[in-house]
Amino acid sequence: MDIRLDFTNMMAAAIGEKYGITDEELRKLVPRTEQIHQDLMARRERGELPFYDLPFDREMVDEIVPLAEDLAGRFENVVVLGIGGSALGTVALANALGPFHHNQLSREKRGGRPRLYVLDNVDPAGFGAALDLLEPAQTVFLVISKSGSTVETMCQFMIAREWVEQSVGESFRDHFVLITDPESGGLRQLARSQRYRNCPIPPGVGGRFTAFTAVSLLPLATAGIDIQRVLRGAAKMSERVTRPELMENPAYLNAALQFLAYGKGLTISVMMPYSDRLKDLADWFRQLWAESLGKKHSLSGNLVHVGPTPVKALGTTDQHSQVQLYMEGPWDKTVTFLIPDDFGADLKIPPMEGASGLSYLEGRSMGELITSEQRATSVALTKNGRSNCTISFPAVTAESVGALIYLFEVQTLFAGGLFEVNPLDQPGVEEGKEFTYALMGRAGFEHKKEEFDRWYHQLVKRVL
Ligand code: PA5
Repeated sequence: MDIRLDFTNMMAAAIGEKYGITDEELRKLVPRTEQIHQDLMARRERGELPFYDLPFDREMVDEIVPLAEDLAGRFENVVVLGIGGSALGTVALANALGPFHHNQLSREKRGGRPRLYVLDNVDPAGFGAALDLLEPAQTVFLVISKSGSTVETMCQFMIAREWVEQSVGESFRDHFVLITDPESGGLRQLARSQRYRNCPIPPGVGGRFTAFTAVSLLPLATAGIDIQRVLRGAAKMSERVTRPELMENPAYLNAALQFLAYGKGLTISVMMPYSDRLKDLADWFRQLWAESLGKKHSLSGNLVHVGPTPVKALGTTDQHSQVQLYMEGPWDKTVTFLIPDDFGADLKIPPMEGASGLSYLEGRSMGELITSEQRATSVALTKNGRSNCTISFPAVTAESVGALIYLFEVQTLFAGGLFEVNPLDQPGVEEGKEFTYALMGRAGFEHKKEEFDRWYHQLVKRVL
């Protein structure tokens, strides 16, 4: 069986009309669904939404796979330098599909593949400690930035480049692959002028929609993940999520459910995988949902300030941290559980002498326990009138994770249509970026420095 979306517990029949959704409300969205669908398909046709076609891009795979093989044969460590959409998809897929604790395993147990590190911050302590772990001669850095100018990534690159050059000298260029826009941006210019190896990110595919480009596929393939299976899963899902009918299309339906729940005041959307492997998929989704839908202006320019707040949680761990709040706190959340039918391993619970109170566990398995806990939490939430749904699938495989990512990408695009915002931009992050440039003395941002100082100094300081 395929990926299933069980939305019983989001419906009014399960949790009441105040927070639950009625069939009538879903039916009312049908005409809007048709419009948004037609618009998406027309834009896809015009080449404006190229992410839709990435799973079918054979040429891209033919470029990535030999490069990955070459890097895997020459290096012990692959380090991604990137942030946001240039990092989160890789972390999500690597942790879902690689062996647990990949970097701690011997090369043999890693299937002869390099260790994989993703450095997505400029905390000098964290970045320095990561470099301390590595041997420059055995390390290749994948410098990933669509814009080619993101300050954090450029800062990491400059430090890593000098660190490698000091150790290996002239051949330092062999230790870098630049992944960026095929034509524009500072990184592309550097790739040309300094003759770095490089890979293109297809034009029109923005940061958080790049999981099926070299951004994630090159590091993953180098670390030994079968990217062709990931793409096959996405390609298979594309058939389901391009269906025009709301009730036939899991991406449209899930977006519609989330949109209707938002309209009832459930503005916080929790994603709670019951699977260690999928923990970081919730992190990847958090960026996708937040950055795509959190907007000040609607498509027609009205001031709207909309956007669901995504929260990530992990089952069962966060049952002991967050579920109290979800169960009894404010009526502002809907929870999406993700759970595989099969965890790919199981551990039988043995008897234990002297622990008669635990005899109910004897002979059962850890897999049964985690599955029961998810079902129990879902029913307990429902009994309390709390909105929740469950996405389940046979197992965490390259195909199923590829399919989930594609599903959530289309869901986000469609949700952009429902919320009437542009899911592909992120104008709200510009101001902070410009103030940072100003504080770091970038030419052309002198006026922002003056503006920053004016704001900063007029604030009445309240510091304890
Ligand atoms: O989704 C996005 O567009 C952002 O999160 C970007 O991925 C992030 O800001 C990094 O940008 P870039 O890849 O240009 O360095």
